[in-house]
Amino acid sequence: MLVLGIESSCDETGVAMVQAEEQALPTLLAHALYSQIEMHQAFGGVVPELASRDHIRRVLPLTQEVLDASGKSLADVDVVAYTRGPGLAGALLVGAGVACALGAALGKPVLGVHHLEGHLLSPFLSADPPEFPFVALLVSGGHTQLMRVEGVGRYELLGESIDDAAGEAFDKSAKLMGLGYPGGPALSRLAEQGRADAYKLPRPLLNSGNLDFSFAGLKTAVLVQSQRMVAAQATDGALGLFESLPLQQRADLAASTQAAIVEVLLKKSMNALKQTGLQRLVVAGGVGANRELRAQLNAACAKRNVRVHYPELHLCTDNGAMIAMAGAMRLQNGLQQASTTYAFDVKPRLAVGQLVAR
Ligand code: KG4
Ligand code: ZN
Repeated sequence: MLVLGIESSCDETGVAMVQAEEQALPTLLAHALYSQIEMHQAFGGVVPELASRDHIRRVLPLTQEVLDASGKSLADVDVVAYTRGPGLAGALLVGAGVACALGAALGKPVLGVHHLEGHLLSPFLSADPPEFPFVALLVSGGHTQLMRVEGVGRYELLGESIDDAAGEAFDKSAKLMGLGYPGGPALSRLAEQGRADAYKLPRPLLNSGNLDFSFAGLKTAVLVQSQRMVAAQATDGALGLFESLPLQQRADLAASTQAAIVEVLLKKSMNALKQTGLQRLVVAGGVGANRELRAQLNAACAKRNVRVHYPELHLCTDNGAMIAMAGAMRLQNGLQQASTTYAFDVKPRLAVGQLVAR
């Protein structure tokens, strides 16, 4: 079975082909990605209308690229999977529309995939795929969750953020520091030159006794700290900009911010392992690309004899491979039927609750 996957939920157009034989783990034949980051950078964030238009421009050339690279033709495709949600409505419509049009033209069924399940299953695309069961730390731009994963489609929510996601904490703090978009990678690059203990920032809900997170207060603390630093630097009563502070000070605040986020993610992940008694941790989503988070999780897991798995670095953020993979794994497990009605419905606010039991 060949599954073509299309991802277009936000600012990355991704297309991929996976091959699934019986119950064996599906394999990635080819994938292609176009990131719109450069286009949105001029605006300091994602402009939804521009995102949709750019997905339209990219999706068919990327599909051709994937067909060429995999040595397959459209006629070989058995199922077209696409991201159904959550995401930007117009952006999702492009992927869904193209998937349904391809399906209708080829007489092949289509399958809507939950974007977060794509992230969750993306570590199965790596050279060292996990085995069930495991604890999953899902850290994307809009979601922070800990789950107990028994198998494909068998997810139990252990805890989640009650306000901002860890990715938002990175992005919003980066914005305050004038680092632009996307903030996470820029903040972590700056943090490499800073001291993680330079500023005392809160670790929200660190000792709450449950597995929930809260990151909104951290962003406020970063704002207050940055205003203090700017005021201390002010001359003649004129307030300067955070960007004009000495590099060391800016890097120190970036490193302190990253340390606060990483410490909370680390401690809650270890608590989730203890609570479930599981010995395997899977990290997925864009923030899973963070080097400091990986280093600290690796060290803590090594100490506890816990195996930890990540997606390949380039498959941490949005991509088509994870959508094709999740689609193929759902089909293999009989969890969902691909459909030939082509009445695509995208769900911009598709909830995690659609995916998990609590
Ligand atoms: O999973 P993703 O690509 O998109 C969503 O589904 O939301 O995650 C994007 C998030 C953004 O918040 C981005 O700043 C963050 O992942 N991110 C990082 C890093 N790379 C991406 N955060 C910290 N360090 C990184 N290296
Ligand atoms: Zn994503």
